[in-house]
Amino acid sequence: MLKPLLFASAVVLFGITASSTPGPTPQDATPAHASGQKNSARAADKAQARAKEIYSVDCAICHGETGDGKTNLATDMQLTLKDWSDPKSLAAMSDADLFKVIRAGNDKMPPEPDGRAKDDEVKSLVIYIRNMGKQQPAAAPAAAPAEPTAPPASN
Ligand code: HEC
Repeated sequence: MLKPLLFASAVVLFGITASSTPGPTPQDATPAHASGQKNSARAADKAQARAKEIYSVDCAICHGETGDGKTNLATDMQLTLKDWSDPKSLAAMSDADLFKVIRAGNDKMPPEPDGRAKDDEVKSLVIYIRNMGKQQPAAAPAAAPAEPTAPPASN
């Protein structure tokens, strides 16, 4: 007889805590929660699509589409580039380090000015580059029913 009672009071307690959550928009405090999940996932997809765009135009010529650094230009310029498809290659660098190199450049690495990539776009580039070391993540949400985003690649 005790169990249903405990359960009932748990429900009541939960109800009270849930309804007394402070702040006008509880979703903002927990972005990955329920209804917020889909939107933030979509925003992340969009940011990564943009990062891919910038990367293809500004970065791939040296670092390669897959980030392995095996490009003709790298050979011509005698650059020693890390192979980012190996996750160990960037393990010693923090996201802030990567951000700084992209923004400010370093030695033969040209800086990416604000006019070509805003701060949040550079942050997306950092994520994009890090993901090159995660060989095709099996749990990629891209396997879900395709969203009507860009038309089939035309480039
Ligand atoms: C002209 C060739 C060139 C282009 C274009 C270029 N990079 Fe680099 N990048 C380099 C070189 C060379 C280094 C190594 C610099 C050093 O010695 O620290 C480097 C280093 C980096 C690093 C530091 C980690 C590492 O592997 O050493 C990051 C992150 C990076 N580049 C990102 C980018 C991004 C993002 C873009 C496009 C916005 C870009 N690069 C465009 C040549 C290039």
